[in-house]
Amino acid sequence: MSTGSDSAAFWENHYSRLDEQWGTRPNAVLEDLVTALAPTPGTALDLGCGHGGDAIWLATRGWDVTAVDVSATALRRVATGARTSGVAERVHPARHDLAHDFPEGRFDLVNASYFHTPLEISREKVLRRAAAAVATGGLLIIVEHASVAPWSWQTGEDVRFPRPDEVLASLELDDSWTAERCHAPQRTATGPQGQTATVSENVLALRRAS
Ligand SMILES: C[S@@+](CC[C@H](N)C(=O)[O-])C[C@H]1O[C@@H](n2cnc3c(N)ncnc32)[C@H](O)[C@@H]1O
Repeated sequence: MSTGSDSAAFWENHYSRLDEQWGTRPNAVLEDLVTALAPTPGTALDLGCGHGGDAIWLATRGWDVTAVDVSATALRRVATGARTSGVAERVHPARHDLAHDFPEGRFDLVNASYFHTPLEISREKVLRRAAAAVATGGLLIIVEHASVAPWSWQTGEDVRFPRPDEVLASLELDDSWTAERCHAPQRTATGPQGQTATVSENVLALRRAS
């Protein structure tokens, strides 16, 4: 099990070497889901926000977004990007190591898009906390890799990705939840050098009724 400093050190190193423009565009799956399933803005929590592509896009659509990451460098860039986009008052960067602590409150939308890390953390536990942070009537979005792109750090023969129904089961949700999306579509992904590959990903959009 990693410690908070493991995650912070790993991701700080990652972001200090990363092109500042990488990850500043919203994820297409999130855009589609929010447009279809959550058209009215409210409060949002973006878990593992990275350079803030999703958080800033949500804010430009009127959402009030708490943008969480373990990397202080990533969060500084989110704050800069929010200012540049004119939505600084609606983007609240917050540093948490989600393996150890979690933001307070309930949110109309909780986004965990590509919340992956090579460090050993209890991802299931984080996603259960994410579900618990969804307000009544709100939506939990989980988008995650379900196959390996050739440029991924997750390559290796022993890598097994869970199916979407397994991810759903791992959340241990009660009957007050409805799965509005729970599938694993394919798409063409673009890598850091502009290379492309067909990948599949788990897409879950889960509504809390009460
Ligand atoms: C694969 S990146 C995805 C970033 C962004 N959501 C996107 O779609 O571009 C995973 C993100 O999760 C963050 N992260 C990893 N482990 C974390 C932890 N324990 N606590 C908080 N954030 C973490 C990383 O810093 C990184 O920004």
